[in-house]
Amino acid sequence: MPSQSTLIAPSILSADLMHLGEALKTAEAAGADWIHCDIMDGNFVPNITFGPIVVQAIASNTAMVVDTHLMIADPDRYIEEFVKAGSNQVTVHQETCPHLHRTVQFIKSLGAKAGVSLNPATPVSTLEEILGDLDLVLIMSVNPGFGGQKFIPASIEKIKKLDAMRRELNPRLVIAVDGGITEENAEAVVHAGADALIAGTAFFRAADPAAAALKIKSASR
Ligand code: DX5
Ligand code: ZN
Repeated sequence: MPSQSTLIAPSILSADLMHLGEALKTAEAAGADWIHCDIMDGNFVPNITFGPIVVQAIASNTAMVVDTHLMIADPDRYIEEFVKAGSNQVTVHQETCPHLHRTVQFIKSLGAKAGVSLNPATPVSTLEEILGDLDLVLIMSVNPGFGGQKFIPASIEKIKKLDAMRRELNPRLVIAVDGGITEENAEAVVHAGADALIAGTAFFRAADPAAAALKIKSASR
């Protein structure tokens, strides 16, 4: 498996955006491994968030891995900008990429790690032929578009399926899970095979984010 201890990636979407610098410090002090940037376009998903200039501000003020989640139609148009802005990892949605192999190779050619995300209704089998080329798969455990939604229980079986697939096809693949992660369900998600947990509400809206991160991080297989 790629990592011994669970990686935690706070989603900046749930932070107080008036105080982005403080939010980064809170995440760093809590031992966060990645900072998750949710990019939404009002087209692929119903919500709109922010673009490369905000990612650049984040990337130039943190040592955390900048993990950019593109929930946008035609991501090929913007990948280079997000890498130039300082994204260390770029994740595109399978549902937005008719030429996924080309898109993945493009991300890698720019020097970033390449991830692919799957909506709840998209089967992991759609990644079989590309799995060997990927650095990370992001399983959506809610329908993308908003923070604060409830974890979809069927995601657990899906993570298990992907875990079995990677053993055969790409043991160094990182499995990340995004949406509705809580201190309560983290253990089950990690047990199913997740290496990295994205946490928006459970981290930034916690009374004590550091304590919440510790609890989520301590979830082990
Ligand atoms: C949902 C986003 C998630 C979201 C997670 O579309 O991709 O990253 O911010 O937020 P919580 O942890 O609140 O579900
Ligand atoms: Zn996300």
